[in-house]
Amino acid sequence: MALNGRIDLRSDTVTQPCEGMKQAMLNAPLGDDVLGDDPTVQALEAKIADLLGKEDALFVPSGTMSNQIALWIQSKRGDAVALHNTAHIYVYEAGGPAVLSGLLLKPVGGENGFIDLDQLRGTFPPDDPHFAPVTLVCAEDTANKGGGTVYPLEQLDAIAQIAHDQGARTHLDGARLFNAVAASGISAARRAKHYDTVSICFSKGLGAPVGSALCLPKSLKKAAIRARKILGGGMRQSGMLAAAALYALEHNVERLVEDHARVQRLAQGLIDAGYDVRWPESNMVYFETNDPNQMIAKAKAVGIDVLSTGPTTIRAVIHKHIDDADIDRCIAFFAGINR
Ligand SMILES: Cc1ncc(COP(=O)(O)O)c(C=O)c1O
Repeated sequence: MALNGRIDLRSDTVTQPCEGMKQAMLNAPLGDDVLGDDPTVQALEAKIADLLGKEDALFVPSGTMSNQIALWIQSKRGDAVALHNTAHIYVYEAGGPAVLSGLLLKPVGGENGFIDLDQLRGTFPPDDPHFAPVTLVCAEDTANKGGGTVYPLEQLDAIAQIAHDQGARTHLDGARLFNAVAASGISAARRAKHYDTVSICFSKGLGAPVGSALCLPKSLKKAAIRARKILGGGMRQSGMLAAAALYALEHNVERLVEDHARVQRLAQGLIDAGYDVRWPESNMVYFETNDPNQMIAKAKAVGIDVLSTGPTTIRAVIHKHIDDADIDRCIAFFAGINR
């Protein structure tokens, strides 16, 4: 219970930098990244691009900005973007695609947050001026609102294939792609192979305080830098933040399997206590209760924080500040209250 004395399961975004990460930030060689000469940012961009098997990458302040830049630079006003109807870009990015890029979002259904292939095929309109052409398809791996689910590789590949066959580009919201890697044993580069751009977040399970990267082809880098500038995301001595991300890649990727094992233990405890639980595939578990607000209040009173994600649904996310004893306490708490 290392986070301000609380078991904070609201999100993996609550993670805080450890001493080693702070030291790396303090000692990072710095420049001015807007002028293009921050060596630590350059090192991070090269490393994450390499890990993802892409030509280049751009360091940005947030996952939202990363996704929004990907949409902006790969479409034009009046185009349509197909994505899952629970996708972060659709549900939680404040209408950014309409505001920033003049895009029509076409939500597609499918089990567990995964885009259904037939529905995706059906979303491409005929070549007729009545319709907004679908020029970009976005998938999310892991799929957060789907339950932290890990795409079957064939489905991830097939989505990209369908998009490319239709002449559309592809973006992968990989905010938690390294959780999908940990769960599947399939490398990030392989999972993202058929996607033109990929967004990676360092400030979730990887434990950096700030930052995401948009991995992309070299040909899109200039446009991405300009979009970031317009959005106010050009940062100066951002090597301090990039150093945290580099540290996270070096120290906090392999350990994600520990979070996955702990969330499964929590899920089993909840099942044993009679809850209706969506079995976790990565680092989060969703379970049902009659009155989430009441449960959240009771949990808060004993030092446990969880989030409600629907009228009867609670989400608990496991991360590097949660240990085995915390899981025991959570199981005991949830088993002992009225649900
Ligand atoms: C799947 C997914 N994509 C993108 C984001 C956005 O990241 P940020 O909060 O850094 O803007 C999140 C944040 O939780 C997310 O879960």
